Amino acid sequence: MRHDHVISAKQLTRGDIESVLDRARDIAADPSAYASRHDGALLGLLFFEPSTRTKMSFSAAIKRLGGGVVDMGPVDASSVKKGESLADTVRVIEGYADALVLRHPSEGSAKMAAEYVDVPLINAGDGAGQHPTQTLLDIYTIRENAGLDDLSIGIMGDLKYGRTVHSLAHALTNFETTQHFVSPDTLALPRSVRYDLHEEGASVKEHTDLEHILPDLDVLYVTRIQRERFPDESEYRAVAGQYQIDAGTLGAVADDLVVMHPLPRVDEIASDVDNTDHARYFQQAHNGVPVRMALLDQLLEGEQ
Ligand code: NCD
Repeated sequence: MRHDHVISAKQLTRGDIESVLDRARDIAADPSAYASRHDGALLGLLFFEPSTRTKMSFSAAIKRLGGGVVDMGPVDASSVKKGESLADTVRVIEGYADALVLRHPSEGSAKMAAEYVDVPLINAGDGAGQHPTQTLLDIYTIRENAGLDDLSIGIMGDLKYGRTVHSLAHALTNFETTQHFVSPDTLALPRSVRYDLHEEGASVKEHTDLEHILPDLDVLYVTRIQRERFPDESEYRAVAGQYQIDAGTLGAVADDLVVMHPLPRVDEIASDVDNTDHARYFQQAHNGVPVRMALLDQLLEGEQ
């Protein structure tokens, strides 16, 4: 990887993505070969927003490479509560760790924080902005299940506030894919993302209805409505509960349709989908460990 900091999927070339994915595949095939690779390395975890998968899989990844974590813990128990700035917090914690993982509610926060530190800083979600490591595991999952070129990918749900969507959409422009975006008008892609996709020459189609494109899809990536980002709860309620799928919805799809979701889900995928051959979202979450091991391996290699 050419970049010390991993801030946005926009910085990732096809070569960058494939080198992480190839290494992740190697790791998944023989994790023990990497068990002492970064003995004693420490990963600083700074999570200013809730997280289960991202935080725990980063933690598992560094431990499986022989390292450990230093965790800022809940915001309420840290000096952030005393009014410490993000810039000061990262400058302090870079002295305790070999790389940092930051999740923060403000868009742009990871880019700003990276300007203050020399160790690699990984954006684990900056508000409604970007979530590039989720994208790496998403693309790994797509590649393992459906290959990567000549694909039709449906991306459905909260396209406005969903940072996993913004990152995935950018990264997919490196591959021969058609992206079908499905959402209510009020949650359509932000203009800036649409503009970037256009500049990249991406094949993009936007829809308000899943039904008529579902039979053409190879992958359906479902997302949660990002309730916490709505300025007004009534706006959330107006769209909540739309764009759900269940086993019945998938009745007429291709046998090999791959259904993904970054998780957590609320009600957008009914539990009767879990036992169908289409469901890949738990596998997708598990892929977070080898993919984050591969990324950390590359970033820490650069540090030595
Ligand atoms: C996502 C996130 O935090 O953006 N979760 C994750 O990291 N897997 C998706 C979400 O919260 O809806």
